[in-house]
Amino acid sequence: MDARVIILDFGGQYTQLIARTVRELGVYCQILPGTAPAERVLASSPQAVILSGGPASVLVAGSPSIAPRVLDSGIPLFGICYGMQVLAKELGGEVEGWARSAAGAVASGTLAERTAMREFGAARVKVEKPIGPFAQLKPGTELPVWMNHGDKVTKLPPGFVAMGSSSGAPIAIFGDEQRKIYGVQFHPEVHHTPDGKEILRRFLFDVAGVRADWDPKCFASEVIAGIKERVPKGNVLCALSGGVDSTVAAVLVARAIGKRLHCVFVDNGLLRLNEAAEILEALGALELNVHFVDASERFLTELTGVTDPEEKRKIIGRVFIEVFDDVAHQVQDVRYLVQGTLYPDVIESVSVFGSSATIKSHHNVGGLVDNMRLELIEPLRELFKDEVRAVGRGLGIPESFIMRQPFPGPGLAVRCLGELTKEKLERLRRADQVVREEVAQCGVEKDLWQSFAVLLPVYSVGVMGDGRTYEQTIAIRAVTSRDGMTADWVMLPEPVLRRISTRIVNEVSGINRIVLDISTKPPATIEWE
Ligand code: XMP
Repeated sequence: MDARVIILDFGGQYTQLIARTVRELGVYCQILPGTAPAERVLASSPQAVILSGGPASVLVAGSPSIAPRVLDSGIPLFGICYGMQVLAKELGGEVEGWARSAAGAVASGTLAERTAMREFGAARVKVEKPIGPFAQLKPGTELPVWMNHGDKVTKLPPGFVAMGSSSGAPIAIFGDEQRKIYGVQFHPEVHHTPDGKEILRRFLFDVAGVRADWDPKCFASEVIAGIKERVPKGNVLCALSGGVDSTVAAVLVARAIGKRLHCVFVDNGLLRLNEAAEILEALGALELNVHFVDASERFLTELTGVTDPEEKRKIIGRVFIEVFDDVAHQVQDVRYLVQGTLYPDVIESVSVFGSSATIKSHHNVGGLVDNMRLELIEPLRELFKDEVRAVGRGLGIPESFIMRQPFPGPGLAVRCLGELTKEKLERLRRADQVVREEVAQCGVEKDLWQSFAVLLPVYSVGVMGDGRTYEQTIAIRAVTSRDGMTADWVMLPEPVLRRISTRIVNEVSGINRIVLDISTKPPATIEWE
């Protein structure tokens, strides 16, 4: 699918939010580097180009800028913060300020002078001349906005009018109605600018006449058609984890090439209670061609006696490759490998879950790609997680798959501290099942990123019946997170905690103490190993 809108990324913190907002408005967009050559920017014949903010200063020689041919292309342009300053400078206006290099501050003037010139945080912009994306507003309307700038536009380029001002930016909005080029010093893409989405909507639809035709269903049919064309014969491999990304990627490819897609699902002995059977059943219902390998004994044998967390992870990664490789070599004429890489991974996003999952699978399958000379098929590389979920729903993938909590590749191994044994894993599995059931029942699951039990190698004295016990400890971890990068602990409702605690000590042998993990990330991580 061709992008209707191109976002030129000048390194701003919020570039992804611009993309999200545009997609939420039903418009398919792509992010390219701000300095991308004109051929690349114009390749999809975009109907609008948005220039993001960024840490550089146009006052510093060599600062990133837009390709002149894009500037002159006649395509409507919208500059945000640094993007506005790029437009001002390139089109003949002037920018002044606190000269900064991309690497940091290059101070000029006194500290007081420099501070006075900067405008960070909540501010108000008075819209004096409401034209273009602001045409619906009355002159004099004050908009609450989010500012984050040191430099500012001080002289308009020829043909432009000043449309609004703030206390820190005399030209906080400018525009050229004829050429359909607009710039704002504030950030319309963040939620601290409540009217921001409406401003972008007006720019895209009213000014640029962009068509809103992005929806998950048409995305899926275009992708399926594209894969059919790309893989007219031969076989394709895919490693399934039971997670939403790899499942949606596999179903898309399977809709294109049917049983020529060979999915490999490995039980590494580190899955949750009944998980392998549940995943297999659900994959079967999706009519995927699944090669199931129960390699649990092999994994556990290799992990015997290993206590170091990193070593555990490395062994699990290596054995996975070996198992996958065995299956892969039984399939003839394989040319491609499917991966559920998401957009945030592609553009080096903040998503640790996404990128750790991908880094891991990149490591895993990277070797295979080299050994077997496989080309990658990444049908989700343009999508955000919530869009993947929407595509998955459109493909009829059950809600239980779509909304599954992230589960780490090394599975229960990183929640069963120290050496792994069958007995300890079983203990953890049963305790974890209690947590899952109780959390699911109380209705808070949808608000959580993850909730699970951890088996600690800590033995303590207890009393059960009339006897002394000396048994292990379970920690309960429940967190919220946007992307796995940072996380906050969640206070599960007290009755739920009470039920979890009572049930675990009653139902799981070898446990006499339950503790609550109330650590944020950072400094802790979500998983314990
Ligand atoms: P940490 O423990 O680093 O985890 O705070 C952040 C998020 O990533 C998940 N995670 C993994 N996912 N392979 C994965 O696919 C892994 O090796 C892995 N390690 C951690 C974790 O569950 C959390 O959501």
